[in-house]
Amino acid sequence: MTGVAADPRIELTDRIARLREQRKAVILAHNYQLGEVQDIADFVGDSLELSRRAVEVEADTIVFCGVTFMAETAKLLNPERTVLIPDPLAGCPMCEMAPAEAVRKRKAELPGVPVVAYVNTTAAVKAEADICCTSANAVEVVESLPDRRLLFLPDKNLGHWVQRHTSKEIILWEGHCPTHQRIMTQDVMRLKARHPKAAVMVHPECTPEVIDLADQVLSTGGMIRWARRADADEIIVGTEVGLIHRLKKENPDKTFHPISMLSTCPNMKRITLEKVAWALEDEQYPIEVPEEIAARARRAIERMLETI
Ligand code: 13P
Ligand code: SF4
Repeated sequence: MTGVAADPRIELTDRIARLREQRKAVILAHNYQLGEVQDIADFVGDSLELSRRAVEVEADTIVFCGVTFMAETAKLLNPERTVLIPDPLAGCPMCEMAPAEAVRKRKAELPGVPVVAYVNTTAAVKAEADICCTSANAVEVVESLPDRRLLFLPDKNLGHWVQRHTSKEIILWEGHCPTHQRIMTQDVMRLKARHPKAAVMVHPECTPEVIDLADQVLSTGGMIRWARRADADEIIVGTEVGLIHRLKKENPDKTFHPISMLSTCPNMKRITLEKVAWALEDEQYPIEVPEEIAARARRAIERMLETI
């Protein structure tokens, strides 16, 4: 027997690094990705930050570690580049709650009412929207429109949060995030009782009852920034548990308590290091959006990026 067996995880990350260089690729990862995927990414962020980064990259190929609507957004903004998602089944159930046909039907019932589409929608639904928004800019996007009434879809919780911050009339859609729905008020209260000095930050996809118990309501990128500058040494966190990896890594002196370990997004967790390596090796799975949809969907995303 000679030598020590190599660590297979290190071999895998080395392989990804080699392939990334050969393919002139950039790896973008959402804040909910597995820790080891975040750690090999060139950039980690929230939906808005990733959309902005997707327009700035100079690479030939973008490997998008997130869910399909995020990779689709990157493709819409980069029609000339190859955008790969390592697992094409990494969908977002909230997107499925607003099928394009149902959105067209609702629009017909509301003539003249503009549609604000959360980026958690398919390209076909973005094509029906006047403008997109993310959890980081939803209130500002709504305020930027001249209209007094608008249809907000698909997340009723984010829409409800926006309604609290605008005098406009927000017509809600019956969609939600199953992962954030698992964050319960009794879990927040139990943690607050156990850690009375801790601050509470939650994502606006949480229910209004959970939001009522929070000190801060922020996008995942907003939580990263707030945790960095907050005076609190202990923070109770109400969002998908993947965010805890980055919070701990960037704030080793602070303690983070996830409200619920059940709030995990199975679709985000479909992306593994192995699949990232295979994506680079075999150029799989390329995102394609039919041009007649892409042109209209792109307009709604670009309008958001130009506005906020
Ligand atoms: P962020 O844009 O805040 O990262 O949220 C994306 C998402 O899917 C939340 O569930
Ligand atoms: Fe969709 Fe919720 Fe997963 Fe975000 S956490 S990708 S909204 S299912």
